[in-house]
Amino acid sequence: MAKVCWNKKLKVNSVKILKIKQNGLYNNKRLIVNQFLAGNIILIEDFKMPINLEEFNFSPINISMPKGINPGSNLFREYNKKTKPITKALTQNAANFIYKYPEQRDRLTKTMMKCDDFVTDMFKTLFSLEGTPSLNGTTWRFTKTTKQNYHLDIYTGSAFRAFWNLSDKPRKWGFGYNAKHIFEKYNLELNTFIKDKEISGEKISQASLNAYINQLISDEETHKIEFDKYDLWICDTVKVGHQIISGDKLAAFTYLFKKEQIPIPIANGMNYMNYIKTLR
Ligand SMILES: [Fe+2]
Repeated sequence: MAKVCWNKKLKVNSVKILKIKQNGLYNNKRLIVNQFLAGNIILIEDFKMPINLEEFNFSPINISMPKGINPGSNLFREYNKKTKPITKALTQNAANFIYKYPEQRDRLTKTMMKCDDFVTDMFKTLFSLEGTPSLNGTTWRFTKTTKQNYHLDIYTGSAFRAFWNLSDKPRKWGFGYNAKHIFEKYNLELNTFIKDKEISGEKISQASLNAYINQLISDEETHKIEFDKYDLWICDTVKVGHQIISGDKLAAFTYLFKKEQIPIPIANGMNYMNYIKTLR
């Protein structure tokens, strides 16, 4: 069971955690969508997929990140930047790190692809998304991740993301603020940033805004949560501040959909940018 340690120093109305049972997932579709859009975290403990879980019973890869690679980024992604299609390459490469023999590698790759399909379908059903993701950036993190800065992810638009802890060790995260809280707390700084860009005629993308926000919030106070083995949590990490504190085996499912594939208009990134303007 996931453990949360609430930090009393956090004075804002911070991010909430909504616990849902896996068998109640689709009966609570509206609640989940609303919580996701509000910048909260949806937690499903002991999440199961139609695969043989024993496939993931290997030890995490015991290597440190090569110099120059951000500890928060994924080793396999860095190695495959130019390889397309990215997801297939990433899963295959991850499997290559685990197993020496092609047969084992293929079996693991197939299992990972099945998980990826399962979670894609879950998001499509929950959010009534149309077609296939415009980007599938799912990564398999079989290496140890140590303390990251507290940050918002830098994607353009909403990212449908789910994390699944596959390790015997808990995945530890810091969390507390979402974009709304950050906009309210740093209203002055963010408006100055926007005004400066407007004066210079520079376009502000969601990605450039988040990059700026990350400098502001990196040392903020956080609550701490320990996700247990097979916990799956869903949130829009473009809007939910987060920090990996530790963990060593995890699937990070990541899907971007275009605006026209998302029937719920507020789920697309444009509203995130517009929100800040309402605070001016
Ligand atoms: Fe992140």
